[in-house]
Amino acid sequence: MIDKLTYYIRFPLIMVSMLTLLAAIWAGLLRLGWLWPTLNPMLPLNHGPLIVCGFLGTLIGVERAVALSGLSSKAWWTYIGPVITAIGAIILLSGNLSLAGPLFMTIGSFCLVLVFVKILQMETASYTITMAGGALMWFIGNALWLFGWSIPTVTFWWIGFLLLTIAGERLELGRVLRLSSTVINMFVAVVLLFVVGTLLTVFNYSLGVRVAGGGMVAIALWLLRYDVARYTIKKTGLTRYIAVCLLVGYIWLIIGGLLALYFGGMTSGLYYDAMLHAVFVGFVFSMIFGHAPIIFPAILRRPITFQPAFYLPLLILHLSLLLRIIGDLMILPALRSWGGLLNGVAILMFLVNIVATIVWSSIKK
Ligand code: HEM
Repeated sequence: MIDKLTYYIRFPLIMVSMLTLLAAIWAGLLRLGWLWPTLNPMLPLNHGPLIVCGFLGTLIGVERAVALSGLSSKAWWTYIGPVITAIGAIILLSGNLSLAGPLFMTIGSFCLVLVFVKILQMETASYTITMAGGALMWFIGNALWLFGWSIPTVTFWWIGFLLLTIAGERLELGRVLRLSSTVINMFVAVVLLFVVGTLLTVFNYSLGVRVAGGGMVAIALWLLRYDVARYTIKKTGLTRYIAVCLLVGYIWLIIGGLLALYFGGMTSGLYYDAMLHAVFVGFVFSMIFGHAPIIFPAILRRPITFQPAFYLPLLILHLSLLLRIIGDLMILPALRSWGGLLNGVAILMFLVNIVATIVWSSIKK
């Protein structure tokens, strides 16, 4: 009974997180200056929290819950977190700017921390600790937001959530390479550099951003050097596609880190846009494009077949991001707006591709 319930609860949660993604992109485009209708004039202000907490937070929560409930039927409680963040997303979607949105996101992210306590009890390894650190950073960022800190001042905590989650997963997959303890210690050192930088943002925002930016560059260099993607790029089909997504994503992480190092504590405007989206669109979405063909079938229990067409949205995503960042850095608002619009088009094409492939693969089965 509980098994069935947890199976069926995934679908509404994924639907809410997908809707949140679409609304968040719409909100981002309004913020870029596209004069399109908005259901709610406050929606653009919620763009960042919608996409980081409502979309990604809920999706990562569901992914963990699916993994844990696959191991034990007693782990149904792991779904509580994503349910709470999905409710938080609906509150933010309504354009609500009260404390209700941050409150739900803070409680939901605390639930993810508890999920990681359980995971750490089952396996304490450098990668589970890294991913747990990511969940903790998300919770701290949300708690600061709840206590009245502005969104720009908590964005590095949110970057930490996504960066540590991804880096931890890559380290876990890197076990096949039997990395030496020196290499793993290097990983710990570069991750700590980023975490220390983010902690510093609380006391001296500009200095903290610069140190965290150095950490981002160092993590990206580590990943470029030691991730299995360096070998899997030589394979074919889905394996190569994933490797391309990863390697290009790492390059964007270097660019984001360098921009953070150079510009320091920007809290709005073109340079802020460039720094944030090099990481969020270039790094995080490249990872999503790469991992989705594995994660969605696992969550939805539906097969997916690789199509070379997967490369098209990936290409548009990265070329349009390049335009956007050039527009930001050279103060060319029109280039920035078109680049941002094409970022949204690439993400939409990617979603249509994935849904179409899942439906097609299910019919053929
Ligand atoms: C189509 C894609 C996107 C567009 C058009 C877009 C647009 C924007 C704009 C215009 C800003 C304001 C920058 C400024 O202050 O000048 C912004 C901020 C932000 N974006 Fe995006 N964005 C997109 C994708 C993303 C993604 C994928 C993420 C996260 C994964 C993200 C997270 C954020 C965050 C956290 C902020 C800071 C919010 C704030 O300061 O209130 N964005 N975005």
